[in-house]
Amino acid sequence: MLELKPPLVLLSGPAGFGEYLKLIDHRFVGAVVLKTVTFKPRGGNPPPRMAEGPFFLLNSIGLENPGVLSFLEDLPKLAVPTIASFGGETYEEYLEIAKLVKDKAKEFVAVEFNFSCPNVKEGGLTIVRDKEKWRRLLVELREILDDSFLIAKVGIEGLFVEDAAEMAYQAGWNGMTLVNTVRGLIVDKGKILLGGLSGPILKPIALRAVYEVKRRFPNLYVIGSGGVYSVEDAKDYLMVGADAIGIGSALFKDPGIVEEIGRYLLEVRR
Ligand SMILES: Cc1cc2nc3c(=O)[nH]c(=O)nc-3n(C[C@H](O)[C@H](O)[C@H](O)COP(=O)(O)O)c2cc1C
Repeated sequence: MLELKPPLVLLSGPAGFGEYLKLIDHRFVGAVVLKTVTFKPRGGNPPPRMAEGPFFLLNSIGLENPGVLSFLEDLPKLAVPTIASFGGETYEEYLEIAKLVKDKAKEFVAVEFNFSCPNVKEGGLTIVRDKEKWRRLLVELREILDDSFLIAKVGIEGLFVEDAAEMAYQAGWNGMTLVNTVRGLIVDKGKILLGGLSGPILKPIALRAVYEVKRRFPNLYVIGSGGVYSVEDAKDYLMVGADAIGIGSALFKDPGIVEEIGRYLLEVRR
């Protein structure tokens, strides 16, 4: 089991490779999920890559990262438990990453696979579209990383979360992060901007996803991800069964909120 104290994680992407930790008292962070690392290095998408609305953030970063080989050569050494996040652009890349990571997997309290980035053309969201192929991928990844606490991060597109959960559970995965960003579009000064929506707009969607999954698979460890900006938000996620609370976009607004939520979680989850 994953015992995070407090059960609070800084989510993949906004948490970067741990940069925010210098702004936060480490006692209130259960773990950092590192930015998703892909097989090949990625430069990400051209700007503009972020836009803000009253209830959301829209980002199209496009998984900018140094690639798995550079990442493994120079692993981030953080002062808190660390969860690695990986994503492939093809089925085979996911497997190659898992094989490369195997020897270093002990450095992480868990390994998350991102099956849900909306901002890349191949892989990301599209990988879950073919259910049978995704099921096989889950089984193969489980076989390779047989010692790791494995977490599948999914969105709500391409597959119902409860079906995704069933496949992950049957393949022997330990947890899920629910949910990744949802595809969105805004028109900004006459220009169309595509990206993934995060922030408050995502919260009712993610709460429902956590609820549906935990109701059916109480033994899957679920990290709630979407619009946690306050202690009240965290309470709502606990109420629907989340095992841990994820904080993403709120980091950009006020990293101080992590301490407030972390303190609360330490009190209620002693
Ligand atoms: C700028 C940005 C970059 C992100 N990059 C990643 C990523 O690399 N991997 C990933 O799994 N999720 C990524 N996400 C999704 C977040 O981890 C999180 O699941 C989502 O934003 C919902 O949580 P929030 O509303 O608290 O931000 C990113 C989100 C944002 C806003």
